[in-house]
Amino acid sequence: MKFFVDSADVEAIAELNDTGLVDGVTTNPSLILKSGRDILEVTKEICDMVDGPVSAEVVALETEAMIAEGRKLAEIAENICIKLPLTMDGLKACKALTSDGFKTNVTLCFSANQALLAAKAGATYISPFIGRLDDINIDGMDLIADIRTIYDNYDFQTQILAASIRSANHMKDAALIGADVATAPPNVIKAMANHVLTDKGLDAFMKDWAKTGQKIL
Ligand code: G3P
Repeated sequence: MKFFVDSADVEAIAELNDTGLVDGVTTNPSLILKSGRDILEVTKEICDMVDGPVSAEVVALETEAMIAEGRKLAEIAENICIKLPLTMDGLKACKALTSDGFKTNVTLCFSANQALLAAKAGATYISPFIGRLDDINIDGMDLIADIRTIYDNYDFQTQILAASIRSANHMKDAALIGADVATAPPNVIKAMANHVLTDKGLDAFMKDWAKTGQKIL
């Protein structure tokens, strides 16, 4: 499973990127607001730093304007992936932009039928929002599983990008189902490394090592 960082915070992305575990970045208008930065500037900085795709979202609501914004965003860098909302206008823009060779990420997906349409529109990625479904007492992971089955039934090449991830358990469950990618906030990715028994075991090893009086270097 590929890991994308769901953030427009350049420092947080840089810290994770240094681990070599980051495969891409996703942003959205709310994350741009949170960064306090200009969308074109901050997105360029992220694109220069990360090797993989960087999703930047259009804000127009009509197809032609979405296509124009998507083209403008794609000028930022070669690794831009144009993020479009899952509306009929967004799907039409997706079809046009993918036909022109751009990478696309169809976002705000909350049903298997929406994901089916995105695949038909040739989306590079579909972003089902797990956490926001959980928020309204619908199991977001069921949606990931349904999309996996449908895409495999027809060998759709659209990649499932599990989004709105809120916990390390979400990452594990998305991986078990077979999501191609998961995008998560930096704190969630870091939390995946934590285990109380790792901390306890390391503490014991360090104490015993000190008692040996030895050095490796
Ligand atoms: O990038 C979209 C998505 O990951 C948003 O997550 O936590 O705002 O529902 P959240």
